Amino acid sequence: MSASNRFKPAARTADISPFRVMTVMERARELESQGRSIIHLEVGEPDFSTAQPIVEAGREALAHGCTAYTPAAGLPQLRERIAQHYKDSQGVEVDPGRIIVTPGASGGLSLLAQLLVNPGDRILLPDPGYPCNRHFVRLAGGEAQLVPVTADSGYQLNPGLLEPYAKAPVRGVWAASPGNPTGTTLDIDALAALSRWCDRQDAHLLVDEIYHGLDYSEGLPSVLRVSQDAIVVNSFSKYFGMTGWRLGWFVVPQVLVEASHILAQNLFIAASTPAQHAALRAFDEDTREILETRRRAFAQRRDFLSGVLKELGFTLPVEPLGAFYLYAGIEKFSADCEHLCRVLLEDFGLAVTPGTDFGEYHSRLHVRFAFTTSMQNLEIAADRLRAAVASGKLSA
Ligand SMILES: Cc1ncc(COP(=O)(O)O)c(C=O)c1O
Repeated sequence: MSASNRFKPAARTADISPFRVMTVMERARELESQGRSIIHLEVGEPDFSTAQPIVEAGREALAHGCTAYTPAAGLPQLRERIAQHYKDSQGVEVDPGRIIVTPGASGGLSLLAQLLVNPGDRILLPDPGYPCNRHFVRLAGGEAQLVPVTADSGYQLNPGLLEPYAKAPVRGVWAASPGNPTGTTLDIDALAALSRWCDRQDAHLLVDEIYHGLDYSEGLPSVLRVSQDAIVVNSFSKYFGMTGWRLGWFVVPQVLVEASHILAQNLFIAASTPAQHAALRAFDEDTREILETRRRAFAQRRDFLSGVLKELGFTLPVEPLGAFYLYAGIEKFSADCEHLCRVLLEDFGLAVTPGTDFGEYHSRLHVRFAFTTSMQNLEIAADRLRAAVASGKLSA
């Protein structure tokens, strides 16, 4: 066998596209190393480092030798703490036995794709949406059917948008609330409608709630409030500010628990032990106060940046109620988001993610601004954006 064949990636990897945001980030770092000032509006992670009580708990766990594997589904006391969190924040009882702790939401999503998707199964996903999900589905041999969502539906799926895809069997619907890149949410009626539609199709409903907590209206509902059959994915990355610790969880109906354990054992054995001990402190009052202060800071940034973008002529037809993103229309300036992002970065020192990272539907006419940087940096970004618009260089 020739060397080229030996090292040829498996065929299933062929249509897994890279993150354009990583290319933007790498180029931004390169420019910074040449002495250029860059404001980062591309990065999808909080700029705040992990809250001190969580860090202390992680340090203590290491000092006490908590370095061995945990059970595959996670530390029992962490699963109980997560169940308590659903009771406190959502008023729903979740049996801790249905909670599986994972290496980030990413570990959960890839496991769930292996668990739920047979070769050829069709999964409906919103376009625009988080790009990795369609890749997880494809790696499991499934068909990731992108369903265009627009400002009219709050960039979220609903039964009316799904119905045309029901002529052939649908195995599942994967939604996110708040969503990435749009930050829009599903209210309780919308969740109930999706759940009923999935019941009628005998399809599973998976809702990614990784940006829960980072929501700017009161009482964002979990899908568990309307259906105990829904599958929920969540994470300590975003609201809890623990991206690099790699810790998340999912909740499955009882019938999927055993198979989830078996896959967890085989795919990753268990999530990081020190991270799990650290996360036990994530729900405590003193930590929550820190996280709530940060949430208010994100809300202030969102209001500031959305004001600037609208003033300059970017379109923001739906006010995001969660996450830390603004998915802005660029039609006034350009028909090519990648050109616009290149000019913003190279000529004006602003790193922004092109819409083409998130799907196909009108994606060239959008960019994603992440307000994961300080107000001070956002003010500089606003000046640079004004200069970019005034320069006339954004058009392509
Ligand atoms: C919607 C969504 N789901 C899942 C993830 C994965 O997060 P993690 O693996 O850090 O928990 C991300 C990361 O940006 C995301 O935006």
